[in-house]
Amino acid sequence: MAERNASSLLIVTRKSLFCLFTFTSLLFILSWVFLLRSSTRPQFIDNTLLPNSKLLAVIDHAISAAESQNDVEPSVGNRSILVDKEEEEKSSSSSRPNHGVKCDTNEKEVLKVFMYDLPPEFHFGLLDWKPEGATVWPDLQSKVPSYPGGLNLQHSIEYWLTLDLLASELPNPPNARFAIRVRNVSQADIIFVPFFSSLSYNRFSKIDLHQKKSNNKALQDILVKYVTAQKEWKASGGRDHLIVAHHPNSLLDARMKLWPATFILSDFGRYPPNVANVEKDVIAPYNHVIKTFVNDLSTFESRPTLLYFQGAIYRKDGGFARQELFYLLKDEKDVHFAFGTVQKNGIRNATKGMHSSKFCLNIAGDTPSSNRLFDAIASHCVPVIISDDIELPYEDVLDYSEFCIFVRTSDAVKKNYLIKLIRSIGRDEWTRMWKRLQEVQNFYEFQYPSKDGDAVQMIWKAVARKVPGIRLKLHKSRRYSRAPIQNEKGLTRIPSPKNFW
Ligand SMILES: *[C@@H]1O[C@H](CO)[C@@H](O)[C@H](O)[C@H]1NC(C)=O
Ligand SMILES: *[C@@H]1O[C@H](CO)[C@@H](O)[C@H](O)[C@H]1NC(C)=O
Ligand SMILES: *[C@@H]1O[C@H](CO)[C@@H](O)[C@H](O)[C@H]1NC(C)=O
Repeated sequence: MAERNASSLLIVTRKSLFCLFTFTSLLFILSWVFLLRSSTRPQFIDNTLLPNSKLLAVIDHAISAAESQNDVEPSVGNRSILVDKEEEEKSSSSSRPNHGVKCDTNEKEVLKVFMYDLPPEFHFGLLDWKPEGATVWPDLQSKVPSYPGGLNLQHSIEYWLTLDLLASELPNPPNARFAIRVRNVSQADIIFVPFFSSLSYNRFSKIDLHQKKSNNKALQDILVKYVTAQKEWKASGGRDHLIVAHHPNSLLDARMKLWPATFILSDFGRYPPNVANVEKDVIAPYNHVIKTFVNDLSTFESRPTLLYFQGAIYRKDGGFARQELFYLLKDEKDVHFAFGTVQKNGIRNATKGMHSSKFCLNIAGDTPSSNRLFDAIASHCVPVIISDDIELPYEDVLDYSEFCIFVRTSDAVKKNYLIKLIRSIGRDEWTRMWKRLQEVQNFYEFQYPSKDGDAVQMIWKAVARKVPGIRLKLHKSRRYSRAPIQNEKGLTRIPSPKNFW
């Protein structure tokens, strides 16, 4: 015991000695800096110690730079939101020298996107929009083509992102724009392929009598031929390309050829890990179909339903947990558990149900993700997620445990486990999560024109966070570009997906 005290005392004295040393050194350095900066500089400094004034200028510059940085330092706030702001400022100040000039709104443009001028058949033409004149893009100032409603809207991410890029070129672009379209590909951070793949799947998967393959398949074939023939694709092997495939069944054919690109997806449920993975790709939210709860004045007590679930029943995979949970929960008095899709039972009914429930269940179905989570967030109904393989949008900057309850499937199907857990969450804890839901709900709103911090801006930011990794891989891949990979017979070998990344 005595020995321990002695040694800790030693550490304390050492520590204080070290502090004293640091402090005095700092004082010494500071006094030098002040000496150097004073306008009546003693002659001997200029002559002997600092023979040229260049160094002085450098020091002065460094000091004023540090001072000006302090001016724009963001105040301390919530981490998840702050991270983006810091990143924004870092990247904008690194691309432009910033001498204490106040940031104007233009400083926010950081992601430069080159977009292929694909024929309208791949994008707005799928919305029955007809081009006028030579342009392949609609004139957003005269009319914004509308996306079909209903279930199609869930996967409309492709549409909102493309609109946002086009809007960045308007004479009076919207204020919120993290991404801008550039026409010079060598200035681009990423190359966007504007194919409305989800819409193409939803609307053109049927095969007519006289057709060999669906229009959706045919479009994908042409897309692969077009994109892989571009010099931009050849230069990077596709690594710096960005493709939206939000519907789990969209791009089924083309993705096997276009996989080096970064995909924007809803989840990885139907993807082999070498074709899509967390490292390379971006997870985007679904566009919710339940109306956002505006002016939500509800309280723990005013939401009568404890737990709400409305969804389809599946026989395979996730279906097991759904049926199991149904039998466990069906007799609980304040639980709403019903099969049948939200659509079939009326959106108005589901909106009412979710807006008047404390917790909303999200059980994995035939894919790990579903629209229901985003419906719950828009309803400020605390999501209870039972989906072991779910990937969540922006999870690198957002802590979902602040506003969601996660339960492992193996636990959820234990008798009384789930209902006990939910009932154990009291008013205070629930209210905290409900408040946090209102803070984050904007991250899941799609709209045109896009607004600060909405889903469109959040997705572009998530893409921007992938850019350094893409560059790293691209540069690494060029190390031996003078000497192509050869096998024993001296033939050039095409890298396989396994060792590509
Ligand atoms: C941070 O979050 C807390 C609670 O979640 C909230 O009370 C506070 O206003 C937030 N601060 C900022 C700067 O957003
Ligand atoms: C494209 O950008 C590069 C690099 O900034 C520049 O060297 C080149 O001249 C530009 N090309 C055109 C056509 O503006
Ligand atoms: C709405 O919900 C109620 C009760 O939950 C149900 O009786 C009714 O049939 C539902 N309406 C529709 C259109 O499904």
